[in-house]
Amino acid sequence: MRILAIETSCDETGVAVVDDGRHIISNIVASQLAHQETGGIVPEVAAREHLRVLDGITQQALNEAGVELRAVDAVAATVGPGLVGCLLVGANYGRGLALAAGLPFIGVNHLEGHVYANWLYEGNHRGAPPPENPPTEPDIPAVVLIVSGAHSDLVLMEGHRRFRPLGRTIDDAAGEAFDKVARLLGLGFPGGPAVERVARDGDPTAFPLPRAALSGYDFSFSGLKTAVLRLVRALEAKGEVPVADVAASFQKAITEILAEKTARAAAEHAVETVLLGGGVAANLALRAEIQKRIGRPLRVPPPRLCTDNGAMIGAAAFFVLRDRGTDVPVSVRSDMKLA
Ligand code: KG4
Ligand code: ZN
Repeated sequence: MRILAIETSCDETGVAVVDDGRHIISNIVASQLAHQETGGIVPEVAAREHLRVLDGITQQALNEAGVELRAVDAVAATVGPGLVGCLLVGANYGRGLALAAGLPFIGVNHLEGHVYANWLYEGNHRGAPPPENPPTEPDIPAVVLIVSGAHSDLVLMEGHRRFRPLGRTIDDAAGEAFDKVARLLGLGFPGGPAVERVARDGDPTAFPLPRAALSGYDFSFSGLKTAVLRLVRALEAKGEVPVADVAASFQKAITEILAEKTARAAAEHAVETVLLGGGVAANLALRAEIQKRIGRPLRVPPPRLCTDNGAMIGAAAFFVLRDRGTDVPVSVRSDMKLA
């Protein structure tokens, strides 16, 4: 089963060709640079940019895979959650392609995409057969932490496409907290990778920062963000801000909060598998912290498959198609939840 998959929910335009939900044949991602100037995403600008580049990127993904549209079995696109104008561009384009080529169209939940990124492996390009020893599929049940620019969700994956919510953020998403702290420290957008980079040279114990003690599995990051703001203002008043130390202290606090609840959920639900997904899962300090606490290797996509991309949508689409067998109607929903 070969799927052409499109991701346009936010500010990356991604198109990929994926076989059987696992084997990446091609995966092209174009990040929108316009948002670096505004320091954040302007939805209309993002939607227009998707519209401008999507057709070219789709051609590029097909070319790189060495396949023509009529040689794929289905077309998939993200239908939510995300920015509604952006979702509409990808979903309408995908549906149009499917219609023109007489193929089924599959609308995909972006969050399922982040989960199923854990099923992917890089393939040999140009339609070559998959490697002889592909990595095994993750075992289910699993505890999954999805941490992106818009979500921080801890879920129990009970079976394929069966998710039980355990906890979520009650205020900012983890990626949003990284982005805001980065802006405060003058590190640019997107903030997560920049914070991680400068934190490498910092002392994570330099400044004690609060960890909100919420019961259960919910998260809260706004208190941490405010504490960083106050700290930076106080340091500014005294002289120069030790950016690396602040970044490292913040990163330590947020990764400890995420890791503590993830490890506790895995223990309480007695699951062997812990999966990560979403842009913040690219953070190596977060991976290390969770691994340390669960006491065994963590299953996590390579960083370029944690941030938004088309391949993860192709992976999730395969499992939708396997479940539902045919066309899955599209209605774009900006606030779509995990099933
Ligand atoms: O999943 P994603 O690409 O888009 C959404 O679905 O939101 O996640 C983007 C978020 C941004 O907030 C970005 O700052 C954060 O993921 N991010 C990181 C890292 N790479 C991306 N946060 C921490 N460390 C990173 N290395
Ligand atoms: Zn995402």
